[in-house]
Amino acid sequence: MIKLIDVQTLKQFISKGFEINNKKIFAIFKEGGYFVYENKCPHLGIDLEFLPDQFLDSDKALIICSTHGALFEIQTGQCVSGPCLGEHLELIDSKVEQDYLWVSI
Ligand code: FES
Repeated sequence: MIKLIDVQTLKQFISKGFEINNKKIFAIFKEGGYFVYENKCPHLGIDLEFLPDQFLDSDKALIICSTHGALFEIQTGQCVSGPCLGEHLELIDSKVEQDYLWVSI
């Protein structure tokens, strides 16, 4: 696995983007859980964020695609609103160990 970020730093960002092995991903800290997804909207296959590290809606309750406003559940990546309704973000396998978030890519 690849060491992604220390969990304290991610808690401050809440959501943060990365590029590893030419793959764009992002991580989210939400209510004690950590979630990592590929940074690729199922609608057009493009990056989700417009501003760096801004992957959440204004309530920080859902992941949002900045292009057409699709909304995704943080815990599942399922699209619950927008043009890709019913599709989902690709989950990246991750774990927390020794205060770091690790990913399998
Ligand atoms: S590209 Fe994401 S909703 Fe259209």
